[in-house]
Amino acid sequence: MASRQAHARERDAARLTPLAALLVAGCAGAPSPMLPASEVAGELATLGWWLLAIASAVVVGMTVLVLVPLRWRAESLEETPVSRRGGPRGIAVGVGVTALVLAGIFLSTLVTLNDTAEPPREPDVTIEIVGHQWWWEVRYLGPDSSVVATTANEFHVPVGEPVRLIVGSADVIHSLWVPRLHGKIDLIPGRSNHFWLQADRPGRYRGQCAEYCGMQHAHMELYVEAVPPPDFRAWLERVSGPAPEPEDPLARRGRAVFMNRECVTCHTIRGTDARGERGPDLTHFASRETLAAGMYPNDRAHLTSWVVDATGLKPGARMPEMALEPEALHAVVAYLQSLR
Ligand code: CUA
Repeated sequence: MASRQAHARERDAARLTPLAALLVAGCAGAPSPMLPASEVAGELATLGWWLLAIASAVVVGMTVLVLVPLRWRAESLEETPVSRRGGPRGIAVGVGVTALVLAGIFLSTLVTLNDTAEPPREPDVTIEIVGHQWWWEVRYLGPDSSVVATTANEFHVPVGEPVRLIVGSADVIHSLWVPRLHGKIDLIPGRSNHFWLQADRPGRYRGQCAEYCGMQHAHMELYVEAVPPPDFRAWLERVSGPAPEPEDPLARRGRAVFMNRECVTCHTIRGTDARGERGPDLTHFASRETLAAGMYPNDRAHLTSWVVDATGLKPGARMPEMALEPEALHAVVAYLQSLR
């Protein structure tokens, strides 16, 4: 009996877990502008709440103004002379109040825009972000604007320091949005837009492309990892270096396969002959937690499926199918997983 009860409890728990997981995922760490993690995002959230309050007050006010007179006017309208039903004075009051509310919204938006446009101090870190269908190329620039490190879809920033962003696009218009850190900035082909971010608390912040850019727009995510400044410098130092030499014989075989296939025409792995520029830089690929711009966990199973048939996992993705013998596939995956 006891065991049957335990079994039922287990079954209920199993049924609940996915729902609970969904709820938790929906709240904790949700990429919501209403959960600001920076001063600027806080100002934007405050403005958002005010606009919501004003809009709600307008809706309630309008509803009252329409419904209340209707009730008694239905009875008294017949006797009320036309000249006393509102008239020019009523119109003037309506236009005046509307203009006042709109002017208030316009001015407070302008003030917030002005307050959040520039970082509090000159940033030490500059990151160039290029939007692609459907992933993010991320390059760290040195003081002389040379590229010191390149990664994709996930990048680190130092906590409590402003970071300058220079954003552009390789194909169509995208929009970078990390809701808990700042507002949106468009990535436009043929021009560079300047923006900045600062995370005041350590954490992993989810971002999303916020401008429809084709089939996989919804699966164009990015992650900003905010870490203490010393950890950030150590991370940048590490990812600035060439790819680690694979120690495992299988991974070494995988490297040979990779270098002899069309992989090298699209991907760069620094320290090797792979210098393609169409796809993401894979130099430290295994240190990224997700695959396909945040769509899947970066584990062996998903990586294997991705190499064989990327469009099966992400329809429309530009990565071609790779016809590899099982042994070669196994080796390539081992090599990619060694790129930490
Ligand atoms: Cu990129 Cu939507």
